[in-house]
Amino acid sequence: MAPVLKTNAEIDKLRRANAVVAEVLAACGEMVRPGLTTWDLEEKARRILEKRKAKSAFLHYQPAPDMTAYPAVLCVSVNEEVVHGIPNRDRVLQDGDIVSVDFGAFKDGYCGDAARTFAVGTVSETARRLMDATEQALAEGIAMAQPGNRLQDIGYAVQRRAESDGFSVVRQFVGHGIGRAMHEDPQVPNFGRPGRGMRLRVGLVIAIEPMVNEGDWEVEILDDGWTVVTIDGKLSAHFENSIAITPDGPIVLSRF
Ligand code: MF3
Ligand code: CO
Repeated sequence: MAPVLKTNAEIDKLRRANAVVAEVLAACGEMVRPGLTTWDLEEKARRILEKRKAKSAFLHYQPAPDMTAYPAVLCVSVNEEVVHGIPNRDRVLQDGDIVSVDFGAFKDGYCGDAARTFAVGTVSETARRLMDATEQALAEGIAMAQPGNRLQDIGYAVQRRAESDGFSVVRQFVGHGIGRAMHEDPQVPNFGRPGRGMRLRVGLVIAIEPMVNEGDWEVEILDDGWTVVTIDGKLSAHFENSIAITPDGPIVLSRF
């Protein structure tokens, strides 16, 4: 399906949804410390959703009839967990962990979606390099989201940045168009070849979300039906922003 292009009025609504997302992620970033449980973050996110009269994009989300509905408003993925970790009252953050927090919300019918990876206390040099490389890979991907460029220019930039630091990009999960639905066309892979894929146009709104692994890019899903982990047990980081392509280039809607 051809992606839906958004008007300026719609991009304003997407900005408001993403403002709630940014508020939740900023609050989580301030709370993260050794001893906190991943459920504490879930509760904080629920309180902000209520205060902002927004609706979770994740709670009860069921991508296919044979999948269990997602049971929380946040995804909280620790260390070798890549994405879609389920908040848990018994999961206590430890000094040296890295924790990826992903949040999506609807406001006035439009969806915002973003993610950040935070350090818990003092992390290893490798963990810090992985987080920085992932954030930088996202920034370089966003910089390629210019009208006239092609879709895979984004993934190529992300992949080049991650791999030049000796890390790998996850293949099985991708970014996506976003608007009235959380997942719209096109899919936005974090790998690619320059000059390939659909031409990027003004009004296209996408979530770019590199998942970068310390070791191999292969991942698997745990028996809970959701949690994605690296097969080699090494660390993974995840940064995501929703962006709009304008005549002047990309605008990040979920900045904080
Ligand atoms: N931000 C993620 C995505 O873009 C998380 C959604 S998974 C959910 O797909 F089940 F939690 F909704
Ligand atoms: Co997303």
